[in-house]
Amino acid sequence: MKIHYEVISQNDISTIKNLCNELMAYQQSKAHIHPEWFDNMSFETRLAPSVKGAKENFIIIAKDGDVVVGYAYSNITSKYIYSGGFATLDPVDFFDFDSVEGEDVGCLSQFYIKDEYRGAGIGSVLFERSMDWLKSFNSIKDFFIFVSNGNDGALKFYQNKGFSVSHQILDGFITVLKKIK
Ligand SMILES: CC(C)(COP(=O)(O)OP(=O)(O)OC[C@H]1O[C@@H](n2cnc3c(N)ncnc32)[C@H](O)[C@@H]1OP(=O)(O)O)[C@@H](O)C(=O)NCCC(=O)NCCS
Repeated sequence: MKIHYEVISQNDISTIKNLCNELMAYQQSKAHIHPEWFDNMSFETRLAPSVKGAKENFIIIAKDGDVVVGYAYSNITSKYIYSGGFATLDPVDFFDFDSVEGEDVGCLSQFYIKDEYRGAGIGSVLFERSMDWLKSFNSIKDFFIFVSNGNDGALKFYQNKGFSVSHQILDGFITVLKKIK
């Protein structure tokens, strides 16, 4: 297995459509709080609008030969954009707004490695490259990751990388993780 990494343009996001849908199915399979909320989550409803709404996007993929086996998607967004993130619900505090210094925040928004490629260090490479990109914005001090309930493996992964639990939202559907630069 010889893995190589490529940063792709936001015009090429269809490259990761299948993996994005696999990520949604994975998260649904782990969730015990409102797993049905994932029914409407897909590449079209999550990734595509998120890329469109963000101020900056960074998508890095891992390939084994020609096959895309993983990706990480990060973005810079206004902290206010998330307030309307779930149309059926009241606005939610995705961020502890008062503690966020500037108007913009950096998020590692989606992260997925195909099952048979996990545990081989690929996620760590994608994570570090994504963090390097996020940290390159001097004005941004706050980084966030949202982990859906039941995904304890991901939670542990991020905590090992220096993120801490900030708070829970949507009745525990999502745990918000935060790291300050
Ligand atoms: C989370 C994920 C991206 C990590 O990628 P990966 O390539 O498996 O991670 P690495 O091989 O770089 O592992 C790095 C470390 O994290 C640990 N780790 C990775 N996944 C873990 C898990 N599910 N549970 C516990 N520890 C885990 C590894 O053991 C390793 O520890 P070490 O450095 O002490 O050896 C990957 O497992 C994945 O895609 N999971 C399914 C989708 C998912 O949960 N995405 C996150 C959504 S928020």
